[in-house]
Amino acid sequence: MSEFDRVIDRRGGDSLKWNRYAGRDVLPLWVADMDFAAPPAVLQAIQARVAHGVFGYSEPWPSLTESVLAHLENSYDWKIEAQWLVWLPGLVPGLNVACRTIDGDVLTATPVYPPFLTAPGNMGRKLRRVDLVEREGVWQWDWPELEKQAAHSRLLLLCHPHNPVGRCWRDEELEKLAAVAERHDWIVCSDEIHCDLVLDEDRQHRPFALLSEKAARRSITLMAPSKTFNVPGLACAFAVIPDAGLRQRFRTAMAGIVPHPNTLGLAACEAAFRHGAGWRQKLIRVLRSNRDRVEQAVAALPGLRMAHVEATYLAWIDARGLGVADPEAHFEAHGLGLSDGAAFGAPGWVRLNFGCPATTLDEALVRLKKAISAL
Ligand SMILES: Cc1ncc(COP(=O)(O)O)c(C=O)c1O
Repeated sequence: MSEFDRVIDRRGGDSLKWNRYAGRDVLPLWVADMDFAAPPAVLQAIQARVAHGVFGYSEPWPSLTESVLAHLENSYDWKIEAQWLVWLPGLVPGLNVACRTIDGDVLTATPVYPPFLTAPGNMGRKLRRVDLVEREGVWQWDWPELEKQAAHSRLLLLCHPHNPVGRCWRDEELEKLAAVAERHDWIVCSDEIHCDLVLDEDRQHRPFALLSEKAARRSITLMAPSKTFNVPGLACAFAVIPDAGLRQRFRTAMAGIVPHPNTLGLAACEAAFRHGAGWRQKLIRVLRSNRDRVEQAVAALPGLRMAHVEATYLAWIDARGLGVADPEAHFEAHGLGLSDGAAFGAPGWVRLNFGCPATTLDEALVRLKKAISAL
């Protein structure tokens, strides 16, 4: 049995995902964490740090920084300088701080991970939305609409790969975005938290900042080991900001509201980047198989449809064809806890998290079918 087949009981503890339906027979496939234990090397590093016993305020140490630099160079051929890094306790604070860094409107492509929609308002900025369009089963940018909004915006919040539609944006698409950014003098905050979770063998993640010197100068790239190695509860992330002036503005906008990253999260980060590659390869195979099964199941069910998921462990499902007013409530009533598309800006859709052991997914797909037959 592989470590990805082991079903770990998360009920009755601290799990946001599992506690939501406490005491009810509802399988939680909503919030984006996985039901797998972190890689053994990460667990060892955390245990060693716990054994030390002192948990004062932390700051990154040289070998941790080196592990990030090596990870970015080895994975993406992206050579960054140590001083470009700004450590954060999460990407969501980073999205909010990015909005605080600029003066003007914030543009994002919807549907999107809900904090993209709320961060601008939190910081007193106006949100502008451009809907992604699905053409021939592929989610794409609406370039004419983007151009219409471009002149009024100062910041693009880019989700790359995109949660929830699962696209791993191609170079051509990123280059077009970079050209618009240049013309309208945008800052681009690229949330790349899912970048190590590209599932298609013929796709590769390319950081937005790597497109050109010009793109790099206007970029804030947000990354973390949290999604890939399933340690989001350890509150450790970082921004890569090549331009010194922008980096200083970002740091100023953080002042007084963003705490230090978590001590155990920093230890986990180094272990994940140094020793997690083999584990990640196995994870990708498991997620690919789960993704294929979800796509097949959805294709066979009347009233549901979804596009191919290139990256992430999230399936974005159009349930408008079911003719029910609230699909999330309907699935929940049939024992399946999904995310409501309304929070992502798309009522009538649901998001299914397939980051779980195959047996959990088996049961989830049985419930999905039952929910449809009950109509
Ligand atoms: C695109 C994206 N950004 C950020 C986050 C969360 O980041 P954090 O937990 O580091 O704040 C998620 C979690 O699902 C996400 O999908």
